[in-house]
Amino acid sequence: MLAPMKGTAAAALSELEREIDAPGDGLDRLRLMPTPFVPEVRLHLAEDAIVWWARMEAAVGHALPPPYWASAWAGGQALARHLLDHPELAAGRRVLDLAAGSGLVAIAAALAGAARVVANDIDPYAVAAVTINARANRVDVDASGDDLLDDVDTESDLVVAGDAFYSRAMTARVLPFLQRAAAAGADVLVGDPGRGHLPADGLTVLADYPVPTTEPSVDSSLRHVQVLRPA
Ligand SMILES: C[S@@+](CC[C@H](N)C(=O)[O-])C[C@H]1O[C@@H](n2cnc3c(N)ncnc32)[C@H](O)[C@@H]1O
Repeated sequence: MLAPMKGTAAAALSELEREIDAPGDGLDRLRLMPTPFVPEVRLHLAEDAIVWWARMEAAVGHALPPPYWASAWAGGQALARHLLDHPELAAGRRVLDLAAGSGLVAIAAALAGAARVVANDIDPYAVAAVTINARANRVDVDASGDDLLDDVDTESDLVVAGDAFYSRAMTARVLPFLQRAAAAGADVLVGDPGRGHLPADGLTVLADYPVPTTEPSVDSSLRHVQVLRPA
């Protein structure tokens, strides 16, 4: 049983629900839209995440973490596509979506027939976004906001992580967590658009997808993403 949503995530959920109920019409709005590479899943994404972020920081009067949850990252899109096209990977299994952002991969796992899905992210807005996005897709996903990366996950049969290797520091924590989960018996799958932080060895390439991206600040509208399984 997961703990009830903590104060900051509950407040973020109220804010996102208010925004969805009364959407604006500018670049700073959230919009429920089909995910480009996974149109079976609709997500509340920002029209422009940077503009949304600037407005929210101005409104609350302090810095907020970058709203990664307001974009569908290429790594997550590839992984979600892979789970929906190979539902046997998730069906009947207990799934953890690590660094879940919008919850896209978690929602795909649920649609693929997972027995239970937990979406974990330390950003309270991401925890809230997972809740509203799971609701929009009519699936059950438990959202958790604890930092799990120093733990050993023994409760999941499948651990998935989309675009979680976006910095050297994050990779240095996420990769050992995934390796410990694999050593404890979980299947582990990652979606990575070659950001250069993952080591070249010790990973099996399962698929390679050209993914349309909604991320801010990329030169091309397509990214090549590999779905990988750590050895
Ligand atoms: C680039 S986004 C990817 C989101 C999503 N998986 C996708 O593919 O669309 C990375 C996410 O990692 C989350 N994150 C950062 N540190 C984390 C930690 N220690 N534990 C869990 N999530 C974390 C961030 O809040 C962010 O939502």
